[in-house]
Amino acid sequence: MCCSGLLDYHAIREDFPIFRERPGLVYLDSAATSQKPRQVIEAVERFYRRSNANVARGLYDLAVEATRIFEEAHEALARFLNARSWTEIVLTMNTSMAVNALAYSLLASGLVRRGSRIVVTVMEHHSNLLPWRTVARIAGAELVVAPVRPNGRLDVDALLGLIDERTAVVAVTHASNVLGFINPVRRIAREAHRYGAVVVVDGAQSVPHMRVNVRELEADAVVFSGHKMLGPSGTGGMWVRGDLLEQLEPGFPAGGTVSEVHYRGGAIEVSWAGPPWRFEPGTPHVAGAAGLIEAVRYLERIGMDRVEAHERALLEYAVKRLSEVPGVRLVSAETRDRLGIVAFTVEGLKPAAVAMALGVRGVAVRAGYHCAQPLHEALGLRDGTVRASFYIYNGPEDIDKLAEALEDVRRRGRSPAAPRADPV
Ligand SMILES: Cc1ncc(COP(=O)(O)O)c(C=O)c1O
Repeated sequence: MCCSGLLDYHAIREDFPIFRERPGLVYLDSAATSQKPRQVIEAVERFYRRSNANVARGLYDLAVEATRIFEEAHEALARFLNARSWTEIVLTMNTSMAVNALAYSLLASGLVRRGSRIVVTVMEHHSNLLPWRTVARIAGAELVVAPVRPNGRLDVDALLGLIDERTAVVAVTHASNVLGFINPVRRIAREAHRYGAVVVVDGAQSVPHMRVNVRELEADAVVFSGHKMLGPSGTGGMWVRGDLLEQLEPGFPAGGTVSEVHYRGGAIEVSWAGPPWRFEPGTPHVAGAAGLIEAVRYLERIGMDRVEAHERALLEYAVKRLSEVPGVRLVSAETRDRLGIVAFTVEGLKPAAVAMALGVRGVAVRAGYHCAQPLHEALGLRDGTVRASFYIYNGPEDIDKLAEALEDVRRRGRSPAAPRADPV
């Protein structure tokens, strides 16, 4: 019998209105974005009904309340990630904006400069690859890319071999958004710190699905997406070590990031605001922050160790169940150090055709390169893959439905209208 370590996902599903609104929905795309519990949806609505105002600058009650809610979101995330202070949390729209904010900030602060080296890996999501490429080009720095092994795991020794005294940044994903493999971030951070490099960890997949303790990780920054961890769309952020954050200039300077601006002697002079405000330009997504507080509370009530155990049980079941479907080829059947994400191909069918055929059968999965085209190329997966990803509201019956739908798709053969692949 499957599966030990499962949460009471039937009870959890009751909290997610979308499953009532769309009976039969098999949602296996949480690596892209999670569904939202009513607690989060209600907090967003409550904010607009009762507390809506801009933050930081107002002196009237409503603005004070909005500011307090916005600060509380920082506090909730600091607690969730075991940061030393809420001022180490910077809220952004998503992981992509957090990586860009950090990359431009390191550039503006002169930590990335001509002759610097930036080390990334071939398994990165494009969002933890392209900002570093751009910043390297502007600075005249060198971007080097660590390989994966043929089994899709990061080649850690090769990565460590790329780090030297020129290295300003090592940017590495905590967990692959295609294969779910978890990287040994602490080991990488220790080695990078011997050379004084800043270690940036892409936590977009890890933070929602496992316990991430930023002090134990020993990195300098962890970026994440609120919308992948039950929070509203347009929420995300980063944790950055406090003393580093104090040193940095904002990459995106704007209203709200300064304490004083003067025009003197023909020049604009600036004193930056303290963290986190220095890195949060303009009007933020305050309603989103209100929802994100509830998302964090929801996950804390369950406990991240239990979230991880649930998804591990689903992963093990999925690997076993999908391996039995004729024509389905898992990219990896290993389950060690891995989150609840499986990527596969189906003999004779393009991934996009498979995803579309599954969609018609009520099973929501993703197809294409999942914004990780270099990883697919490194593994010889020319057409991309189909990806199924799990969360707290999924159960083994969702995996059964995926497997049955795949069997049906295979039986019926080639889809007449193969759609274009997803954008990369
Ligand atoms: C590992 C990883 N990094 C970065 C991102 C980008 O996240 P966002 O779309 O929230 O910016 C994703 C999203 O899928 C991801 O999985």
